[in-house]
Amino acid sequence: MSINEPLSIEAIKEDETKAHQRERDDVLSRVLEDHAEIKRRFNAISTAGSPADKREALHALIHKLVVHETAEQEVLHPLVRSADQGDDIAERRLKEERAAEELLARLEKLDVDDANFNQLMTELRDDVIEHAEAEEDNEFPKIEQAVSADTLASLSPIFRAAEAIAPTRPHPSGPTSATGNVALGPMVAIADRARDAIRQARNQQH
Ligand SMILES: [Fe+2]
Ligand SMILES: [Fe+2]
Repeated sequence: MSINEPLSIEAIKEDETKAHQRERDDVLSRVLEDHAEIKRRFNAISTAGSPADKREALHALIHKLVVHETAEQEVLHPLVRSADQGDDIAERRLKEERAAEELLARLEKLDVDDANFNQLMTELRDDVIEHAEAEEDNEFPKIEQAVSADTLASLSPIFRAAEAIAPTRPHPSGPTSATGNVALGPMVAIADRARDAIRQARNQQH
């Protein structure tokens, strides 16, 4: 399905319903709510009326996705490593996240009316949705087997701390990352701030 067609409202509600149906409000609820929000942000790109609106919607998506995947890398994926064959699951999810980040960085550099924009954005949305489903269907059950309900609940505010960072507009000529990766440069700052927020939240909890 092309990015020109928004996702159905049912697809979005499904994640929210799963979040609300959890017995406790925990880190997995946060991830589910985020998945719904990410779909909403893709829809804002699909329905943007002008190129300026589309660029605005792209920046909002970049912010959300980078914060979300960073929070998962810091808080969620480490949990699955204690499960049977959990390392393998964590590595797969990280690989998918790196691929999405590279696609996002390419998109950030394109004009929203570039001939390739819609095709790449469609590819990104398909990949991100498939990735989110893999987390929900295959990583969550492993985490729930390996990690106590109390721990999952205690990680909810830590995950949320990353979400609370204010959006900054990624700048195309911004600083490059420490590894000299020019392509990912504009998104590195968002990830750094999300990691800092998580670190601070962990310190406060202890
Ligand atoms: Fe993820
Ligand atoms: Fe996710």
